[in-house]
Amino acid sequence: MESVIQCKKVKDKEFIITHVSGFISTLFENKDLIGEDFFKLFSKLDNYILKKIAKSLEYGKTIHIFGYSSYFEKYLDIFVLPDKNSCWLTFSDMTKLIQKTTNVNKAKFFQDIELELLSSFLDPENLIDVYSSIATGILKIPEVEGVGIYQISKNEIKKLYETSTNFLNSEIKHDLIQVYRLKKYRIFNKFGKSYLVYPILHTDFVGELILIASFTSNVFDEYMLEFLRELEVAISITSDRLKLRNEIAQKNKHLEMVIEDILKVMSKLVELRDPYTAGHQKNVAKLSVEIGKELGFDNEELKILRYAALVHDIGKIGVPLEILVKPSSLSVLELNLIREHPRIGYELLSNLIPPFEKISKIVFQHHERCDGSGYPLALNCQEILLESKIIAVADTVDAMMSHRPYRPSLGFEKALEEIKINKGIKYDEMVVDACINVFEKDFKF
Ligand SMILES: [Fe+2]
Repeated sequence: MESVIQCKKVKDKEFIITHVSGFISTLFENKDLIGEDFFKLFSKLDNYILKKIAKSLEYGKTIHIFGYSSYFEKYLDIFVLPDKNSCWLTFSDMTKLIQKTTNVNKAKFFQDIELELLSSFLDPENLIDVYSSIATGILKIPEVEGVGIYQISKNEIKKLYETSTNFLNSEIKHDLIQVYRLKKYRIFNKFGKSYLVYPILHTDFVGELILIASFTSNVFDEYMLEFLRELEVAISITSDRLKLRNEIAQKNKHLEMVIEDILKVMSKLVELRDPYTAGHQKNVAKLSVEIGKELGFDNEELKILRYAALVHDIGKIGVPLEILVKPSSLSVLELNLIREHPRIGYELLSNLIPPFEKISKIVFQHHERCDGSGYPLALNCQEILLESKIIAVADTVDAMMSHRPYRPSLGFEKALEEIKINKGIKYDEMVVDACINVFEKDFKF
């Protein structure tokens, strides 16, 4: 929209309008502007504009003025083109363009915050993490002074997150409860500030509210509300996902407990069948865990190591009892039958669900030795799982210290000597050192 005013210089500082077109003429309906003095007619025009126009006419210099005119309530682009005895003034209305740019900037601003917040919605530990990110994100809006997120139940307000301490005062608590009851956002002014309370109505609405304090109420516009609506949807999805994740975690925990019970029963089964080895798997498990700790295993790794050690000889179920308990030396055929037990154990334990799926492989390799002298595959040191190498050492130590049908206990010193002699040969160097450390710390079966 453009408007043109042409004036004729009559006297010094007196400019009579000779022509008007465009939106300015529509502002003065039923009034003939021709013949009016420009400065008298526009005496209430913004002072900075009037002064610049006067200067331009005084010095006969073309000028350009851009700014907001509260008189016209518009953003104007003004050109003043003075001539010797006349002048042209063009007024272009830039309001829509400016608003469009401001809105685009605003929309982009919220979009940027939303993008930043997205990462906090991806894999949060809990909703509080999400809320703290939201509050910090909203605080980036220049006019916003503080953000608080609260949970209401039975008129009790619990703080979930605040960007500044004691943000919520007793005067506002009533407004929060009202929003909670009506489940509709509310904007109000108190103590010279503007407040917005927004209820987060997600699937399991348990009374979460966002309270935003601002220096001005202008910030609580459609952009802000749209931004909060988008957040509400994201919170709802995240809340559902967290709920589902907790349910799955609970079910998995239950399933793990069932599997642990089964593994304990399996461990007892072997020992019931062969009383000579009673307590052996338990001992191996106890020592293996201590070696694992020395080697820096985390709790999850220690759990798997313990269960693998507890059932490492489960495959002996498939070996005839008379061979297992035979007091005299074994024939080649009998030895080969015994050497099948890691493979039988592997087959029995295969198809366990995560995190137990590794147990079968650990059991399969517990008689492998670093120098390739082990069985059933004669693997080399790099090919053998660390857990299997730990069980191998713990198994040897406990077996040598225990009574067997074919020999009495060889004692602790002999057992330790065996692993020391074969350190780096049959047994992994690191594992042997860790085992020695464990005994030096006064380990007892
Ligand atoms: Fe074994």
